[in-house]
This record gives sequence, C-alpha cells and structure tokens, in this order.
Amino acid sequence: MKVWINGRLCDEADARVSPFDHGLLTGDGVFETLKVYDGTPFAVRRHLGRLAVSAKGLGLPMPDEAVLRGALEAVVHANGLTSEARLRITLTGGPSPLGSERGQDDPLVIVAGGAIRPWPPATDVVVVPWPRNERGALAGLKTTSYGENVVALAYARERGASEAIFANLAGDLCEGTGTNVFVGIGGRLVTPPLSSGCLAGVTRALVIELTGADEEDLPIDALAEADEAFLTSTTREVQPIHAVDGRPLPAMPGPLTAAAADAFAALVARDLDP
Ligand SMILES: Cc1ncc(COP(=O)(O)O)c(C=O)c1O
Repeated sequence: MKVWINGRLCDEADARVSPFDHGLLTGDGVFETLKVYDGTPFAVRRHLGRLAVSAKGLGLPMPDEAVLRGALEAVVHANGLTSEARLRITLTGGPSPLGSERGQDDPLVIVAGGAIRPWPPATDVVVVPWPRNERGALAGLKTTSYGENVVALAYARERGASEAIFANLAGDLCEGTGTNVFVGIGGRLVTPPLSSGCLAGVTRALVIELTGADEEDLPIDALAEADEAFLTSTTREVQPIHAVDGRPLPAMPGPLTAAAADAFAALVARDLDP
C-alpha cells in the first residue's frame, strides 16, 4: 500500500511517523474517512469542510485544500482503489514535547487508503453505560481521541452487536462509535440534533436533506421503543438496526429505513460530490 505523508507518496514500509508525534502521544489530531465509489472519493467537499471545522476546534492549521484533494487522488491511483475502499486523512499536532502541550513543528498530514469489509445488511446495537459529553471540549469534532469509542465498541462486540450507542449527559440519544442514529416513531423519522453532542455526520446530513427527517432530542429509551431505526456512516451508508440490546425492533427494514436507503443509493448513483 502506498501512503501520502506530508507531501510525499511512499511505500507503507518506508513511511515514518515521529515517536514524539502529538497525535500518537495524546490524541491531538483530527481525521476524515471517505468512501471510494468507482475510483472517485464521495463527498470530498463536505469531508474537507468538516475536517476544517475539526482542525479549527482543536487549534490545528488546516492544510491547503488543493493539496489534500491531490493527495486523495494520488492515493486512489497509486493503490488502484476502485470500489469498496476507504480513504483516511489524518492531521495531527506533529512532533511535540512529551506532554499535553503541542510543539512548534509542522503538523503531520497522512492520507492512506484501504479496503472496506462489506457490512451485513442489518445489525444489532447495544446501548453502552458510558455517556457522551455533549459539553466537552471535543464535542462534535472528529478527533483521533477515540479511546472511548474503542472501549464502547469492544463492549458491544462482546454482546454480539456491531455498534455501540451512546446516550449523552442529559440521558438523550446521541450517536454510535462511528455512526449517527435515526429512529422511526409513529411514521416520523427523527435523529438527534447536533446539540446532543453527536458528530455532524456527512451521511446524516445527506439523509436529512433527502428524507426531511426531524432533528429532535429523544430519551435514550426511544431507540429500543422505536418502530424502526437505522445507522448512517460513510462506510455503512444506511444500515437497518435489527435489535437493540438483544430485543428485535418491530420492523427491519421499516418503510422509513427502506426509503432512506433507496434515496441515498440513488444519490450516490447520480452525484459523487453532493
Ligand atoms: C463518532 C462518529 N459519529 C458519526 C459518524 C458518521 O459520520 P459520516 O457519515 O460522516 O461517516 C462517524 C464517522 O466516522 C463518527 O466517527
């Protein structure tokens, strides 16, 4: 696999990251995951926009957009990525002293690619006992501080689910470790608002635009009590939820889920930069 590091395309085996990199040492970094369809990364404009928001939130300088676009293209071509592939942009604080303070060196920028394991057509989810902090310094930012997600996902996997769902400190439905959540209640499609602390998912935003879903706070129990529900993310797209905490939902996929999945698939087929 060829990767792009700070302006240079090189073999994975020759790539070097400093042992003092602040992203490695403290999670001082931000990232984006993009999906490749037919050799073209999807929704680049939206992903670069979110990267800029995350970088600003963490106080990292945003790399030049044209350079990042060129890096994405270079990694796609160098690795012959066509479909069922992902790209990841990672931006970190670069070499730093061995503490929370960032160093003075240039940031580190990596663009890497890889295969996507296809997701099953539906999934079980588990609600985890740890809250998302919607008032935290990193709320809504896509940072590399994903330790909480690692622990939560392992908890869900141990219980036979492929995603862990967080409530926030208010006890409301928030998001998954790498997904946003939509629920169908009484014929209405609802998803938590950004003020719940969830990430502004690119897929979430597109599904809201396509379906007119309402953004509304919901108690965490609303998920298990929903008529139907689904996850959204770059790699899962629209994935129906089969069961919550081991209890199947009444409909899978329900009509709102099926409509959202169809609308998203049609969008991808007609426009790779929506
Ligand atoms: C915490 C979190 N929420 C939601 C999402 C879904 O966002 P997107 O649709 O942009 O992939 C992600 C994506 O990785 C995520 O990490």
